[in-house]
Amino acid sequence: MGVLRLAQSLARVGRGLPILAAMSASRERLLSAFRKEFGRQPALVAEAPGRINLIGEHTDYNDGLVLPVAIDRTVAVAAAPGDGRYLRVLALDYNERDEFTLDDIACIRNGGWRSYVRGVFWALQDAGCEIPGADLAITGDVPQGAGLSSSAALEVAVAGALTALSGREVARRDLALLCRRAENDFAGVQSGIMDQFAAALSQPAQALFIDCRSLEVEYVPLPLEQEAVDIVAVDSGVARRLGDTPYNERRRECAEAAKFLAVASVTDANWEMLAAARPSLPERLFRRARHVISENKRVREAADSLRRADLTTLGALLRASHESLRDDFEVSTPELDLLVELAWSTEGVIGARLTGAGFGGCTVNLVHRAALSRFDRDVLLPYREQTGLSAASYACRPAAGLTVGHV
Ligand code: GLA
Repeated sequence: MGVLRLAQSLARVGRGLPILAAMSASRERLLSAFRKEFGRQPALVAEAPGRINLIGEHTDYNDGLVLPVAIDRTVAVAAAPGDGRYLRVLALDYNERDEFTLDDIACIRNGGWRSYVRGVFWALQDAGCEIPGADLAITGDVPQGAGLSSSAALEVAVAGALTALSGREVARRDLALLCRRAENDFAGVQSGIMDQFAAALSQPAQALFIDCRSLEVEYVPLPLEQEAVDIVAVDSGVARRLGDTPYNERRRECAEAAKFLAVASVTDANWEMLAAARPSLPERLFRRARHVISENKRVREAADSLRRADLTTLGALLRASHESLRDDFEVSTPELDLLVELAWSTEGVIGARLTGAGFGGCTVNLVHRAALSRFDRDVLLPYREQTGLSAASYACRPAAGLTVGHV
């Protein structure tokens, strides 16, 4: 399973910036850790990718538009049916374990990875999926706390493994919705659907244009090969966890703004409505709404520019998105601002902005391959010098969503 995809992806990524850990080696490590821990063979491996969002930030929970790309960094889960209703989970990268029974899936305060795994069991059961006991071993190379959606990759990989073990066919879309439920109602982060959809539904070499109200998706081909351009993630070195950030607060502010504007969600408002409401709308809410309305428009334009292979326009849209997230939505940080400013003034960089929720994490950069070493020299080095932080960069290859296969 997925081996061909992994081999192809490894063959393609050999050049440029430091990138993937060799997944075939980590697959071997996962299988042997499973055997050692549980004393038998796993039955299957499920693997789901992280994502980088090209554009469409803080729009998903406002019923708006997003344009993420799944990346060739994944969470892999080896699994076998367990003993009755008992669950045993090994998180290989932390050498940590969790055990619980399906009759008593308790929330853990600040449970980290355990909350997401338990949440998926809980959401599947709550949706009436009879899940048997299981043994799971988990590993991954999606950077954590970097805004590349390691938690959705974990949820979707676990859900893929469990439904496959139970012999159930659950549509990928429904699986993603269950995973969001785990995150919203069990782990307590009020995230939208973007990350789980990207982890479950992506196709190689395509961005995923998602209408988060209708939940319709459209695949938009990425003209990266013909344009010799890479998507580069730069980790600012400032870790964020959504549970600790004002993420849920932004969500509340958007709901408040929608109430003022008398619409179901801010996405339903237009410029005229916003202008008319301005005298009574608190300035902060006005700016939150302005971001969402303008960002939706940018996502549409970005998808169109990809279809025309017009990366220059896309680059300008990325910049406008960052400025709006910085000034109107106020989710940037001085470090993210510095990273994008350095990128904007570097020759060969087509566009750059913060990606994901903000408050730290990564920027997304579109960089001509010929300029990759200049990018290191003119963005990463000065950033490290000025902040004392160790920024890391990853060239992200657009990858497929969830794969599940027998061992
Ligand atoms: C996080 C959430 C997503 C989305 C982004 C911001 O990644 O998980 O649902 O809201 O932030 O665009």
